[in-house]
Amino acid sequence: MYIIKRCAVSQDGYLDDSSEERLIISNKKDFDQVDELRSQMDAILIGANTVRKDNPRLLLESEFRKRQRLDSGQRGHPIKITLTKSGDLSPDSNFFTAGQADKIVYCTANIYEGLKERLKNLAEVIAVGQEEINLKALLEDLEARGVKKLLVEGGAGTVTEFLKQGLINELQVAIAPFFVSDNKAPRFLVDGQIPFNEDNRLRLINEERVGSMIVLTYKKTAVD
Ligand SMILES: NC(=O)c1ccc[n+]([C@@H]2O[C@H](COP(=O)([O-])OP(=O)(O)OC[C@H]3O[C@@H](n4cnc5c(N)ncnc54)[C@H](OP(=O)(O)O)[C@@H]3O)[C@@H](O)[C@H]2O)c1
Repeated sequence: MYIIKRCAVSQDGYLDDSSEERLIISNKKDFDQVDELRSQMDAILIGANTVRKDNPRLLLESEFRKRQRLDSGQRGHPIKITLTKSGDLSPDSNFFTAGQADKIVYCTANIYEGLKERLKNLAEVIAVGQEEINLKALLEDLEARGVKKLLVEGGAGTVTEFLKQGLINELQVAIAPFFVSDNKAPRFLVDGQIPFNEDNRLRLINEERVGSMIVLTYKKTAVD
């Protein structure tokens, strides 16, 4: 499976501010690039905090792209995926209610029964791991469903875990020309031992100006 991480950050590396409202970091062109990228994916994954905080629909916006997918025999939208240990997900969130996409919630075994009952008819609930989410088991399950391209959209906790385990093949970071400068706000990553450091750098493979933003694309240094 090929796993891409894409995010938008402020100049100083924040994903959001600390207010209740979602901070809009992207510009119109970046949103459109994300829509294009989503249209090429089999599935899109976000952490449960992003479901709670941003309440995203996680759907394709472009009718043309949706039509192209349908014409080529794919589902109109990529599968929506989230993961949770707490099970604190509202059945009313847009993740579950918006659009015709398939939805999967990966959780730990200790909360499986209750969550399955609560999300009945809204999403498939799958336990991967007893008390911790086992990302490798999660990816194996997705592979068995034919998922070959996965977009990890965030947030920080989720992405840090994927990076720690060396699971991201390609990283796309869209940088906006403003600062957040608020230490209560989430940064791109949380603390963690990530196997990319000064001695093992990511390989920059593209830089692209997207209006006032710049998108940097990296791959692992090792040959993928
Ligand atoms: N700018 C951007 O491109 C962008 C994109 C996405 C998100 N964001 C921002 O990122 C912020 C949210 O980031 P975040 O770090 O707080 O949260 P997050 O990564 O969205 O979600 C973290 C939660 O997901 C579950 N989870 C994720 N990985 C897990 C694992 N390996 N094992 C067990 N549970 C796991 C847990 O849910 P439970 O707590 O339910 O157990 C965990 O608390 C929001 O402010 C959002 O606006 C920005």
